[in-house]
Amino acid sequence: MKNISMIACVSRDLGLGNKGELLWRIPKDMQFFRQTTLGHPVVMGGATYRSIGKALPERQNIVLSRSEIDDPNVKCLHSLNQLEDYLEKLADEVFIIGGASLYETFLPRANRLVLTEVDGVRPADVFFPKFNSADFRARTLESGEAEDVKYSIVEYIRKAPHES
Ligand SMILES: NC(=O)c1ccc[n+]([C@@H]2O[C@H](COP(=O)([O-])OP(=O)(O)OC[C@H]3O[C@@H](n4cnc5c(N)ncnc54)[C@H](OP(=O)(O)O)[C@@H]3O)[C@@H](O)[C@H]2O)c1
Repeated sequence: MKNISMIACVSRDLGLGNKGELLWRIPKDMQFFRQTTLGHPVVMGGATYRSIGKALPERQNIVLSRSEIDDPNVKCLHSLNQLEDYLEKLADEVFIIGGASLYETFLPRANRLVLTEVDGVRPADVFFPKFNSADFRARTLESGEAEDVKYSIVEYIRKAPHES
């Protein structure tokens, strides 16, 4: 099966965004996101695409949407079946970059989660799905402080069945 990674920035309560916007804009997190996803296909929902406002450069942008997206730099797919068939044909590691509906759908299949965990809470209307951390091996890649909150970038690798 395709290598599926999910990358997100979450609050202590797994908040992802509010009213179509991100909760936090931490420069180191943005930089890390760019470095990590560069050169890989990125998959997002229509709302995340609209919130970013353009295709991300130097990455294949795949957007799941019920509408057409008039952007030559976007591969737009209109159903989960279409998206899954398309992903199966890709040779590369794929990054699910949000939002909540895409994370929810792909969580059971993701073998890696890369989460910037912000040690704070802000009002949110979309959340990363709850997951069982015992199913993963966790490793902190980086920690820091920005916007007066601490954050850690944590990589979770799904354990093989015999490890659990
Ligand atoms: N913190 C983070 O790391 C992070 C990352 C990404 C996003 N976000 C935040 O999350 C929010 C957006 O997330 P969201 O969960 O509201 O939306 P989303 O998952 O980005 O997009 C939902 C949209 O995806 C399309 N879609 C979903 N399922 C579909 C299906 N089965 N068939 C066809 N199209 C389908 C539809 O697009 P259409 O409406 O175009 O039809 C739907 O409205 C924003 O606040 C954003 O800032 C945060």
